[in-house]
Parts: sequence; C-alpha cells; structure tokens
Amino acid sequence: MADEVKNEELKGNQFEGKEDYVKDVFEEIAEYYDKMNGIMSIGMVNGWHKFMFKKAGDITGAKVCDVGTGTGEIAFMAAERVGVDGEVIGVDLTPGMLRIAEKKMETLTLPKKVDFRQGDALDMEFEDNTFDLVTSGYMLRNVTNIQKAVDEMYRVLKPGAMVIVAELSKPKNPIVRLGHKIYLSLVIPRMGRRYDKGKKIDGKQAAYDWLTSSLEGFPCRDEMVSIFKKAGFSDARFYSKSMGAVNIYVGTKPSQ
Ligand SMILES: C[S@@+](CC[C@H](N)C(=O)[O-])C[C@H]1O[C@@H](n2cnc3c(N)ncnc32)[C@H](O)[C@@H]1O
Repeated sequence: MADEVKNEELKGNQFEGKEDYVKDVFEEIAEYYDKMNGIMSIGMVNGWHKFMFKKAGDITGAKVCDVGTGTGEIAFMAAERVGVDGEVIGVDLTPGMLRIAEKKMETLTLPKKVDFRQGDALDMEFEDNTFDLVTSGYMLRNVTNIQKAVDEMYRVLKPGAMVIVAELSKPKNPIVRLGHKIYLSLVIPRMGRRYDKGKKIDGKQAAYDWLTSSLEGFPCRDEMVSIFKKAGFSDARFYSKSMGAVNIYVGTKPSQ
C-alpha cells in the first residue's frame, strides 16, 4: 500500500524529493544509459543531435556549455565542431553519468577535451554572458524548476548567442499519441526491466518508469516556448521531430 501511494505521488513531473530521486535514478542507470537510449529511440537520437548542430550553424572557435550533459554525447558533438580554438564545458548533477562521459572521452579523438564538471543547472557557477552556445538534451524534464533552468541558460549566454534544447513530448496527433503512450507505458518499462530489474529508487519508481511519469504535466511545444520567451529569448521557437515525440527548442538572447 505504501508503495502504491508513493507511485501515485510520482504520476507527474514534479513531486517532493525530486532532485534526490532524479540523481539516484541516473546514478543507477549510468552504465547502460547510452545503450538504452539507442534502443528506446530506435536509433533516432543521433539524428536529433545532428539537427541541433545544424541549427547552431558554424561554431568553430565557440565556447559551448552543454547543460545536463550526462554521458556527454552532445558535448562530444560540440567538441568536434568547435575545434582546437573552441571550448566545451559539460555540466551535470550526477557524478556517475560524468564518470561514464570521462571514460568514453578516453576512447575518442577530439580536437580538445571536454571539461566535465559536476554542477546544478539551476545555479551554475559561470559568470553572466559567458557562452556562445548553450545546448541541453532531455534534462528539463528532470529539474525541479524548469523556468529557473531556462533562466540560467539565458543568463550564461552572451548577447546574440543561441540556446538549443532537445526534449521529449507527447505527440499531437491522437493516433500517434496513442501509439506513443503504449510504447512509453508498456514497451519501455518492459525493456528497461532488463537493466533496472524493477528496483524502486528511493522507495519510489523504478528508473525506466520515471521516463514515462516525467512526461506527465511536463510543458511542451508552445507552452515550453512561453518559458523560453519569459526567460528573455525573443525569437524562441520549436521544431518537432519523430512525429512530435521530440522537440528541439531554439532561441537567441537579444543583442544589447
Ligand atoms: C536524460 S539525461 C540526458 C543526458 C544527455 N544530455 C543526453 O543527451 O543523453 C538527463 C541528465 O540531466 C541531469 N540532470 C538532472 N537534473 C539536473 C540538474 N539540476 N542540473 C544538472 N544536471 C541535471 C541528470 O543527471 C542526467 O544526466
């Protein structure tokens, strides 16, 4: 009964104890995060990331911050593009995810290493107006205050610089939405069981059940664009990918 109540509490994006829960989830799944990501996205994740950098344009020599960098996939793509004169910093809350990122980096030939740092997206250590580009993939669902996270991205960007954020969402089309719901609520938790073994994290849900719950009440498309506009991004917009299962949000901090 106690477990049922706790699971009920988790049927939404925000709940008490979320920060600790999220950190423990990613600590638990760090080892197999990349493998599961590839399987769950049916290999589409790389295409979403390529699209993000297409939107960024030429970033040679740029200073980039990848927020909620996890195992570093987006940060590594940025590092390849900024070259030796650029700089990429990857920030994440969970040490286990950063350990995997560091381990992967040993096997890569990058123009320059990514500087991975443990930190909170809601209170970053950087000065105002530091970066030429801020990227973030699938982190916003995991934070306790979405507006604050986007405000922070805005703060650390230089005037005239871009933010590019990828996030999951529920598709708009009712038929696609139903298929997506079945996939998220039945298929993914079942696939995830192979890795998370159904083990409840912090006495709450298993890691791959969180993927589904985190979308409940999570803002997407125009609602998310409003959050970016409120932060100050004047031209905030989104691009839907994979029939609306993923959105790429883009915005520019106005030049002063
Ligand atoms: C779904 S993973 C995405 C990782 C990576 N961006 C990717 O594209 O695969 C979400 C990441 O956000 C991190 N995260 C959650 N809350 C955070 C916060 N407040 N500050 C920084 N990172 C956070 C988690 O530790 C996790 O590594």
